[in-house]
Amino acid sequence: MTAVAPPKASPLATSASDGPILHAQNLRKTYKLGRIKVPVLRGVDLQIRTGQSIAVLGASGSGKSTLLHLLGGLDHADKPSADAPPPSILFKGTDLLKASTRTLDTFRRRRVGFVFQFYHLLPELSVLQNVTVAAMAATGAFEYWANRSAIRTRAMKLLERVGLGHRIMHRPAELSGGERQRVAIARALINEPDLLLADEPTGNLDRNTGASILDLFSDLHRSGQTMVVVTHDESTASRCDRIVRLVDGRVQNS
Ligand SMILES: Nc1ncnc2c1ncn2[C@@H]1O[C@H](COP(=O)(O)OP(=O)(O)O)[C@@H](O)[C@H]1O
Ligand SMILES: [Mg+2]
Repeated sequence: MTAVAPPKASPLATSASDGPILHAQNLRKTYKLGRIKVPVLRGVDLQIRTGQSIAVLGASGSGKSTLLHLLGGLDHADKPSADAPPPSILFKGTDLLKASTRTLDTFRRRRVGFVFQFYHLLPELSVLQNVTVAAMAATGAFEYWANRSAIRTRAMKLLERVGLGHRIMHRPAELSGGERQRVAIARALINEPDLLLADEPTGNLDRNTGASILDLFSDLHRSGQTMVVVTHDESTASRCDRIVRLVDGRVQNS
């Protein structure tokens, strides 16, 4: 059976243009700890073009994870204020900061794939289920069960691609760190996201294992995947098309 493409019917799917796939402007994020305000992002501007791989470099605590979470719709930017230019995150022309809950939900579940430093796999599920569950989250249970066989086929192909075709029935606890990250990458790709966001994907791995994960990212990039990789490691960053640095809450291009 041929694999079904993930459903893409939404306003986000029809507004592609020649411009950047994602364009964030004037992004601010201030954490509040009681009465103390911690400004982390102080007006970030970032454009991501289709097919590009961008490394976001910055010291620990500079706001890299915060920025990636905002770009992926996992957290809210500060609300517009009178004393700062208005913030926006344009994804294929739709401003996610003004989008309906439904549009934002579609973006999060289907358009973006997220890879975390510590994998965030579900321990009770098998490798295969950890990947297919993300397809269920994107389509809803009804559509998932209607297309279950094709979705499983697609998940198995992805797991083969990341080198885990022989481990699909294992639980995450039975895998090494590098293997867990490969599962997480397959999970991030199952809905064919327009944008892959990775937060220090090799930060918890030894050098050799990390290098093989970076090879996998390079391979994905060569096949056209648009991606943003957060890292504090210059050599990881140097493998990307473009490096931006997060300094004092703003992006500096290099
Ligand atoms: N939920 C939170 N509440 C309060 N402060 C936070 C929260 N998340 C992050 N911070 C603070 O924001 C700053 C940036 O954090 P983060 O984005 O995780 O940096 P990085 O990923 O570059 O190490 C740090 O000083 C951190 O302590
Ligand atoms: Mg971080």
